[in-house]
Amino acid sequence: MTLTPTRPSSAGEKPHQVPSPLSAPEGTDSGVIAWVESIADLTTPDAVVWCDGSAAEFDRLTRLMVASGTLTQVNPEHRPYSFVARSHPADVARVESRTFICSENEADAGPTNNWRDPKEMRATFDEIFAGSMRGRTMYVIPFSMGPLGSPLARLGVQVTDSPYVVASMGIMTRMGAAALRLIDSNTEWVRAVHSVGAPLEVGQEDVAWPCNETKYISHFPETREIWSYGSAYGGNALLAKKSFALRIASVMAHDEGWLAEHMLILKLTNPRGRVFHLVAAFPSACGKTNLAMLKPSIPGWKVETIGDDIAWLAPGADGRLRAINPEAGFFGVAPGTGPVTNQTAMDTMWGNTIFTNVAIRDDGDVWWEGMTEKTPDHLIDWQGNDWTPASGTPAAHPNSRFTVAAAQCPTISDDWDDPEGVVVDAIVFGGRRATNVPLVVEARDWEHGVYIGATVSSERTAAAEGTVGELRRDPFAMMPFCGYNMADHWSHWLEMGKTLRANGTVPRIFQVNWFRKGDDGSWLWPGFAENSRVLEWILDRVDGRTPAVDSPLGWKPAEGGVNLEGTDVTEKDWEQLFELDQDAWLAELDDTEQFFESFGDRLPEAMTRQLADIRRRVKLSREN
Ligand code: OXD
Ligand code: MN
Repeated sequence: MTLTPTRPSSAGEKPHQVPSPLSAPEGTDSGVIAWVESIADLTTPDAVVWCDGSAAEFDRLTRLMVASGTLTQVNPEHRPYSFVARSHPADVARVESRTFICSENEADAGPTNNWRDPKEMRATFDEIFAGSMRGRTMYVIPFSMGPLGSPLARLGVQVTDSPYVVASMGIMTRMGAAALRLIDSNTEWVRAVHSVGAPLEVGQEDVAWPCNETKYISHFPETREIWSYGSAYGGNALLAKKSFALRIASVMAHDEGWLAEHMLILKLTNPRGRVFHLVAAFPSACGKTNLAMLKPSIPGWKVETIGDDIAWLAPGADGRLRAINPEAGFFGVAPGTGPVTNQTAMDTMWGNTIFTNVAIRDDGDVWWEGMTEKTPDHLIDWQGNDWTPASGTPAAHPNSRFTVAAAQCPTISDDWDDPEGVVVDAIVFGGRRATNVPLVVEARDWEHGVYIGATVSSERTAAAEGTVGELRRDPFAMMPFCGYNMADHWSHWLEMGKTLRANGTVPRIFQVNWFRKGDDGSWLWPGFAENSRVLEWILDRVDGRTPAVDSPLGWKPAEGGVNLEGTDVTEKDWEQLFELDQDAWLAELDDTEQFFESFGDRLPEAMTRQLADIRRRVKLSREN
């Protein structure tokens, strides 16, 4: 059912015109034109606009959306060229339950994905997309993931009937005429179809945020296609992000010998001037954007940002693993972002920012929980209602966002858009674990590192559904984002390790956990800027400057290896950060074994071997 009220068009009213998509820019690849034409035939928009990615186009679209009520302009005295969008209250987050992998063979999607038969899904789409853009404009968005022309970049074209999506894709990707020019009959490009699923009848008034109760975010890995229906929000609709850069790209990467990962990328320079690059995978809501914009608390280190969410990794011409950030912007969670947690993000969004579902202050600037120490006395909340601290509801939606160009980030690194990518020195896996997982360990070798990635997990908190303390597994932080069988993803990582080793060097792999709690339930580690102390240890390991001690879980820092000067971490806290509770660990390993069994014969033998090895070491530590 559509959320937009509809009425049948009455006799005598002018029918919607189906325009010709042949108004494509000169030189456009005929394959692109034919595809756009086929989608226009199916969805019957009133007009087709080919986006050029210019500032004038952004300006035109934002004016249109201010006029239609989709956007409210932020007071330009506070934040020039910035806007607030308020979504429909039922369209506020990624919908994993409606995210599908439509591979030909169900086993290729694996037990962690929602699989649908591609033929059945296509039949459904033939119905629901028929006329779905009626009364609207279809925008054609050509884009490049990664620097234009980079050997690591990939191209795509998204069509959408949402101008909000166009403006957001313009920030999040290299979008427009230059990307379109790179597509010719020999280029592989990803096809992405998006409709809010709210056709307008003749004369029908539009709503500020059209969408549909029924949602589909579907991926056809073999044909490199994405079809999204019913939502205009974030990863559901900005199809370059999770859908392309992770779900489809992970399949491309598997087929072509590279990796598409849910990882931030950092450049770090140590006090001696040596430069390192580090990539890190964390499940959603573990502070990736904050870490990507870290201001180190330790002297002499410089930390610069390359990416906050997605990394594409491939062996370079020299055989070393290199990384690019395929995105061009940040789509960050606003609440909790403030001067203490992430001043850099605050400085990044000085202007040219699209906010979604944040609150608006009486002076016309934006606000969200955690942005300022003092809560304003009055706001307009994310749903457009008057709000005071007595309202008892969040003023900004907990998943409210800022969308802003990476180039605006004051800590953006000068090599963030190097077409060759940056050399990866260390790979980090993290999760949100109150127990068991130590603050930091180094994997014994690549295979152990892959096991660490495969067992990334977070504990459920009292606030979430499910039993407190129960593990929510999120291997490689890719559970909702891997476009193929997760166990095949692990095999692919193992293969990549062999390729890198054959070429010379493999990056070192580490596990971190900022979230361990003491017996009294308080955090043992201060986190945020202090995480730089752990990164220092990691890179000192890479640099061969600090010893480590063997433990059942990997190499841990030797005494004094992590600089704690100036923190209030006590000796007891430090011990607890590394404490190994054998019973709890053996129970966790049983749980891991069960999880591994769900992959049947696709599970690489190396994972069973690693599990047995760690179990043996943990048991041995009990006997000692
Ligand atoms: C994100 C996520 O929005 O991981 O980046 O959910
Ligand atoms: Mn993410």
